[in-house]
Amino acid sequence: MKFKVSDRIAAIKPYEAGKPLKAIEREYNIKKAVKLASNENPIGFSPKVTDAVLAHINEMNRYPEPGAHDLNRAIAGKLNVNPGNIVIGNGSDDIIALLAHAYLNPGDEALMPLPSFLMYEISVRTAKGAPVMVPLDDFTTNLDGLLEKITPATRLIFITNPFNPTGAVITHDAFHRFVSKVPDDVIIVVDEAYIEFVRDDSVYNSMTDPLADRRVVTLRTFSKAYGLAGFRVGYGIMDPEIAEILNRIRQPFNVNGLAQVAALAAIQDQDFLNKSIRTTHQAVDYLTGELEKMGFFVLPTQANFMMFDVRTDAKQVFEKMLEQGVIVRSMQSYGFHTFLRVNTGTMDENQRFLSVLKRTLNL
Ligand SMILES: Cc1ncc(COP(=O)(O)O)c(C=O)c1O
Repeated sequence: MKFKVSDRIAAIKPYEAGKPLKAIEREYNIKKAVKLASNENPIGFSPKVTDAVLAHINEMNRYPEPGAHDLNRAIAGKLNVNPGNIVIGNGSDDIIALLAHAYLNPGDEALMPLPSFLMYEISVRTAKGAPVMVPLDDFTTNLDGLLEKITPATRLIFITNPFNPTGAVITHDAFHRFVSKVPDDVIIVVDEAYIEFVRDDSVYNSMTDPLADRRVVTLRTFSKAYGLAGFRVGYGIMDPEIAEILNRIRQPFNVNGLAQVAALAAIQDQDFLNKSIRTTHQAVDYLTGELEKMGFFVLPTQANFMMFDVRTDAKQVFEKMLEQGVIVRSMQSYGFHTFLRVNTGTMDENQRFLSVLKRTLNL
């Protein structure tokens, strides 16, 4: 029997996640593979997270706090906003989906760069909206191109700062110019998944004034700088009117109990966060320098990953590196046929990546 999938769902390309380590080790019969494909944090997370999770484990027969009360207060306190401005999700993926479901009627348009983080398109299509994609301009978000595509049907605009997968950024000035030209009834979602890694002061960062404009919803995550990708915690900072709507439609227990205590412990450990950011910067500088010494064009990045041009079929290079236990991302499905994306690892992982790359390309 062939079940009839709705046309809009059938049109969705499956999300291509970075392959999990265990799957690679199984498939290729290798031990100790290195995964530098999902922009995760190689140094792990704060030891305070471990203590908090272990202390909470015996309470896991209970449902968690529906609004992640303590975590909500901790985030609000850190950002100097009200608890009613924060909605916490099962990863920021969850908030992206909630926004699409809450604000798109069938056929309503959501603008986004092309390529973009795939969950924007998937969530918009699932919510019966119409994604409108605007190609990048020289690897950066084409803000003028996005403005040109605004119509009376536009409800949402997704922008990512720093941008995944290129690592490019939007400056304060460019962001404010952009926002001033967006109609009042359009929500601008600024995904700041990698904002903690930014070193350039001219880059727009919602932290300075997250609620300055009612139309701007900022997304943040514990998956990257805090190293909690496996726990699944992200959040949005937004006008209370929008937060109230998202809270109405989210699953009541969308953030599990261990995730709540893990994120709470993580946000309270500024020393670990500083170390995580410092280590990432060192690794970005090291990898960029080594790749450039090998003669590759490396895109400048403000995130924990970088794209570089191998000047040959990137998918084949990716496959050959996979067979040698190093997992990176081919950017072919994003339209960049000769580019790979790699994220920062530990020093050992970075060196292994570089030597496998050299061997693969006979350098
Ligand atoms: C731009 C961007 N937004 C959101 C996410 C998802 O974050 P989370 O783990 O909080 O769902 C990612 C993860 O890679 C990302 O690259």
